[in-house]
This record gives sequence, structure tokens and C-alpha cells, in this order.
Amino acid sequence: MSEPGRNGSAGGRAEPEPGSEQRSRATEFFAPAQSLGGRLTPPADKSISHRAAIIGAIADGPTRVVNFLDSDDTRSTLSAVAGLGAMVSPEPWKAMPAQFAIEGVGPGGPRSLGRIDVGNAGTLMRLLPGWLAGYEGGLWRLNGDASIRRRPVDRIAEPLARMGASIEVTDGRFPPIRIDGRSLTGISYELPVASAQVKSCLLLAGLRARGPTTVIEPMPTRDHTELMLGAAGAGIERERGSVTIHPGRELRLDEVEIPADISSAAFFIVAAAIVPGSRVVLDRIGVNPTRTGILSILERMGAAVEVTPQAGGVEAIARITAGGSNLTGTRVEGAEIPLAIDELPLVALAACFAEGETVIADAGELKRKESDRIAVVVESLAGLGAEIAATADGMKITGTGGLRGGAVDSHGDHRIAMLGAVAGLASREGVEVSGMDAAAVSYPGFGRDLARLATT
Ligand code: S3P
Repeated sequence: MSEPGRNGSAGGRAEPEPGSEQRSRATEFFAPAQSLGGRLTPPADKSISHRAAIIGAIADGPTRVVNFLDSDDTRSTLSAVAGLGAMVSPEPWKAMPAQFAIEGVGPGGPRSLGRIDVGNAGTLMRLLPGWLAGYEGGLWRLNGDASIRRRPVDRIAEPLARMGASIEVTDGRFPPIRIDGRSLTGISYELPVASAQVKSCLLLAGLRARGPTTVIEPMPTRDHTELMLGAAGAGIERERGSVTIHPGRELRLDEVEIPADISSAAFFIVAAAIVPGSRVVLDRIGVNPTRTGILSILERMGAAVEVTPQAGGVEAIARITAGGSNLTGTRVEGAEIPLAIDELPLVALAACFAEGETVIADAGELKRKESDRIAVVVESLAGLGAEIAATADGMKITGTGGLRGGAVDSHGDHRIAMLGAVAGLASREGVEVSGMDAAAVSYPGFGRDLARLATT
């Protein structure tokens, strides 16, 4: 990654031309494993890392960030906030230090007139406008890669416009986004879809609005933004089903220590549950209850998962031990969906090894992730020999006790690349994953860590 712009342009990279940012297409073969065993601390939580960079950049004064995720997505965020005027030291552009400080821009606000490249990061695309929209006189244009340009942003543009923001999106729905800073007024907004990104965007916008902003959630979603804003001294008020931000407080974050990402840990937990004779121990995993849906689902399926609390801070942390098990099918729907949204592809994989039928319903949001994760999961697992079918809002899987193996195309989606790798270990013939490099979006070195735990 290049150094961030020092010339008033926010974000370090030139704005990509449509279709020009194709990744190299690394192909890797994942052979069947006899078992998985050992101990690992996966990389830092992606959601919390994005928030540490953004809230640290908004804050007045320095924030010490410990264990920031070094990945493509979170580098996009650091690059963006540096371009917007936050000072990051020591500079992480070549090698990510274990700790660094972000000196926030404080009441002076972000630098204007910037083109910001969010790369593949949906969280950055949805959260940043919340910060920027309320700065009168500022003008920004946000764009990203081909996958980002297919992901809807009307879900943030519409409520921000109700607050008085001037936001232009493309074809009424997609990035690029142009933001013309305006003074904002607080609103009460009921989210039409359960989305932590939209909630977070509105809470950030509410920091500067006139009057309070309330976000009402149809069901709970990850609450990292509320926790971090609360720790920074923001006027956050939480009730069952809603959260309100009162503007006007100065933010001081001081220090954020980021736990390991449960969404990354989940690949090893499921691998251990479907490869017989496995036992993996994963340390310092973030177990915020708005993220642990995968654990409850696997427990219900009969997996051997043990959670032992470890010393944490604002976010709960635990050691997770997972082992090989005889799984049975289950139904995943309703309020459980947002708590496991990024792990649903892994539930589908586990279901291939379970006895009976598994149904994932109410999960239409999967179509709007880094790829259409209903279509791509069904295509990928069916290609490996699974009995799986797409439904209107999810999928149905009939466990057959295993997978033959074959080939998986990541479609540039990091979670599909890692899904293919885990499927390979658990399959009879192995899986060749094309586009494995996409894993670097959230977990550079995933293949290496998986190989370290696997005995083939
Ligand atoms: C995220 C929220 C979820 C999740 C995404 C990260 C976040 O998206 O799928 O990977 O960090 O807030 P939605 O808010 O769109 O459900």
C-alpha cells in the first residue's frame, strides 16, 4: 500500500477505474486432513479494527491501538482516516506495528475535498459517510472496487438525507457516493433491515447533529460502535431495541485493545467440528454476545465447543476449544441471523456433514455481501458434492456425511476462499480454491495457519 495522500486527497490510492482492480488469481489446493490439532490466536477483529481507526480519527487527542488487524480492508480504513487528517504513528504503511497511536482530528473535523478509496471494505463505505456528512463546507467522493460498486448504499443515504445530509449515490443505490457536508438534525429511525453498519453510520452522524438521534433495531446486531463510543465518553443511551446518541460531548478514546476475530476463529471451529478426531484451542477471541451466534448454532448441532472467559476490557474475550463431533441438522432463522451473519456459509458447510436437514432462512442479506453468498455458497458446495439448494431467503442442506471435493472459485470473496479451504480439509479428495488471495481482505496468512493446525 502506498503512503496516504498529504495533498488534500483523502485515501492513499488513486481512484480505481471500473474493472481495473482485478486481483491476481492465486490457486491453492487443500488436501484432506486426518485431523486438526493445536493452539492459535487468529488475527484481530475486523469490525472492531475499522471502528478503532474511525472513532480514533474522530476523537480529540491520541488513541493507543493495540492489536489492530493487518488486512487489506483495515489498511483501506487507516489510509482513509490518515488522508482525512488523522495522524497515525509509527506509520504502519510498510509493516503493521503491534501498537500504534492515532491522533484524532477533534473538533476541527476531517480534511475536505478528498477522493476516498475504500477498496473492498463495506464497513468503511457505510460508516465513513456518517462521520463526514455533518461537516459543512466539506466535499468527499467515496469509491471502491468492483464488488463494492455492487453493494447498496441507499440504506445509509436515505436516513442521512432525512437528517439533512447531501449525499448522491449512483443509480439511486450504489457507490460511488458524493458527500457535500451540511449541518444535520437528529432523527428517530427504525432500521428496515437489521444492519450494524447502518446503525453505526447514523450514530456517527448523530455525534454532530442538532438534537438526539435514535436508531431502532428490528433485532440486535453487533454493538461494537455503541461500546466504543461509550468508552470514548459519547452520550450513548441504550434501551432494549434502540440506541440514542446525544451530541456535543468531546470524544477521548485513550486506548483500544482489539480481541481476535470470532469470524476468523469460526473457520477453525467448524474445521475441528467436521474433521473427526480434531481438537483446536483458540485464544483471546472476542465473544461479544452480538457475535456468537455461530457458537450457539454449532452447539445445537451437537458440536463440542467450550468457551472459557479470559481477561477482557470493553469487549468480552474467551478461549474457545472445539472438537470433532457427530452433528445433526438444525434451523437457523429470525434473530439468530444477524448474530451469525458472516458465519452462515460455514453453517452450510457444517450442515453437509450433519445428519438430516439444515435450513437457513430470513437471510436475504447474504445476497448483499462481498458476493451473493446464497448463490455462491450453493454453487460452491454443490460443486463439491453437497445436497444443497438456494431458497428465496437462504438455503436448505441435506447432510450426506461428507463432501467429495473438487474446485471452488472464491468470486473475490474472502469468506468463500476460506470456506473452500476448510471444505478441502474435510473432503475425501481435497479442494482447489481459485482466487485464494481474497482471504487477505480479513485474514492474510489464513492458508498458512490452517496448514499449521492440520495433519494431512
Ligand atoms: C459489519 C456488519 C455486518 C457484517 C459485516 C461487518 C460491521 O454487515 O456482515 O461483515 O462491522 O458492522 P451489515 O451491517 O450490513 O449486516
